[in-house]
Amino acid sequence: MADSPCTCGEPPVHRTAVPFLFSLRYDPAMAKINKRYVCQSCGSVTHRWQGQCADCSEWNTLMEEVPVTATPFQAKHNLQGGGRTIALVGLDAEIALPPRTSFGIAEFDRALGGGLVAGSATLIGGDPGIGKSTLLLQAAAALARRGHDVAYVSGEEAADQVRLRARRLGLGDAPVRLAAATSTRDILTTLSQDRPPALLVIDSIQTMHSDLIEGAPGTVSQVRASAQELIRFAKERGTAVVLVGHVTKDGTIAGPRVLEHMVDTVLSFEGERSHQYRILRSLKNRFGGTDEIGVFAMVAEGLEEVSNPSALFLTQRDEGVTGATVFPALEGTRPVLVEIQALVVRLASGATPRRAVVGWDSGRLAMILAVLEARCGLSFSTCEVYLNVAGGYRVQDPAADLAVAAALVSALSERPVPADAVAFGEIALSGELRPVAHAPLRLKEAAKLGFERALLPDSAAGAERDVMRRSSFRTLGQFVDHLLGRG
Ligand SMILES: Nc1ncnc2c1ncn2[C@@H]1O[C@H](COP(=O)(O)OP(=O)(O)OP(=O)(O)O)[C@@H](O)[C@H]1O
Ligand SMILES: [Mg+2]
Repeated sequence: MADSPCTCGEPPVHRTAVPFLFSLRYDPAMAKINKRYVCQSCGSVTHRWQGQCADCSEWNTLMEEVPVTATPFQAKHNLQGGGRTIALVGLDAEIALPPRTSFGIAEFDRALGGGLVAGSATLIGGDPGIGKSTLLLQAAAALARRGHDVAYVSGEEAADQVRLRARRLGLGDAPVRLAAATSTRDILTTLSQDRPPALLVIDSIQTMHSDLIEGAPGTVSQVRASAQELIRFAKERGTAVVLVGHVTKDGTIAGPRVLEHMVDTVLSFEGERSHQYRILRSLKNRFGGTDEIGVFAMVAEGLEEVSNPSALFLTQRDEGVTGATVFPALEGTRPVLVEIQALVVRLASGATPRRAVVGWDSGRLAMILAVLEARCGLSFSTCEVYLNVAGGYRVQDPAADLAVAAALVSALSERPVPADAVAFGEIALSGELRPVAHAPLRLKEAAKLGFERALLPDSAAGAERDVMRRSSFRTLGQFVDHLLGRG
């Protein structure tokens, strides 16, 4: 039948056109595909490619990840209903503290918060060549020698290389099960065959590969998926997993930030490669405090425990040397005595003087110099200033201000700080001295090493019985007058 003209005079509408367009737009069988771009540096996700990551400002780090598919089922159903109900319990339910297994390496146990927890996941980060593999091989061997089943999987080195290291460290006879592998499926299949080990070391997580998703080892999605599989194995089978993680150039653990959230404990292995000492610092611990550190010294036979770190950082001291002060630093709750050295060189020419700092914050040095100049009338403007923390130690404690000021004043005036004195305290921009935390702990450690006098801020906390003589000051001006013998 031919289309009859409409009474309104409008041209006829082709009825088939409407369902055709409708089907193009609303075909329920067609899944919606969202592209995801993941930053390989910080793990942030965007839906558009950009040359620079908006979160961490790194260039060319966004890479496309496996697309997320919103299925028609998901679109049509409310997925927040229809699940099983779970039991909600009170906080007061009886629960035992997790038992801890000691490695027999006191400094390692201490950093872990008292030993290894079964079923836990630990991540250890550190600079290349700092000694991560050495530390974990020593820890693995120590645990194996105590009768525990230990597996060590290296994705970075061949089995022979690890064996050579073990022989060098005198651990060749330790009953550690060793493998060189990178596939998480192979590793977990092998370990599931008989009783799961008490400890599984993975060196490193960046070399692991999961075949559940695509991508090269080391990419954010691979690191995350491999870690997820290993951690699931740890939780299900009660094996403690220790993952070695690479670090980026600014010292944070490479790969997704979420990796640090996935594990129970994050440890950082730090130190200057040119120096002997290494510090194992706990950054996060779901089973204990993060205020403990383990101190080691790297020697030819591997890492040696240092139970008295102050002795390591306080090198032989001569009386009468100018520009050196001893500072009782605090690492968590552990005091460590370090020597702060300053050198001040007067410039005859009008050249811009240099300021160089090793082991401390250069911004903080500029601040102390400014306060010394503005509040105490000491001028460093025509002098080059060098500041060094002995032993390659890095001071982060704000209490170092007063020790730094003492070293600077001593270097400028060429009058030594008394050899039996330690100094600590925070300096305010007003020139006032502020007391700092844990003064008794610092004093006790200094007294243990033979120091007899403490130069510190005036504070109400002087009531407790003193372990040494105190000279306390309210302002930096008074402190400088004391050092220069003016008051
Ligand atoms: N034959 C040796 N004698 C003495 N010390 C050695 C010897 N071989 C290696 N070392 C020390 O061990 C360190 C390397 O340790 P290790 O391989 O454990 O580091 P790593 O943190 O695992 O490095 P990477 O990030 O490359 O895996 C070297 O920097 C060196 O100080
Ligand atoms: Mg290594």
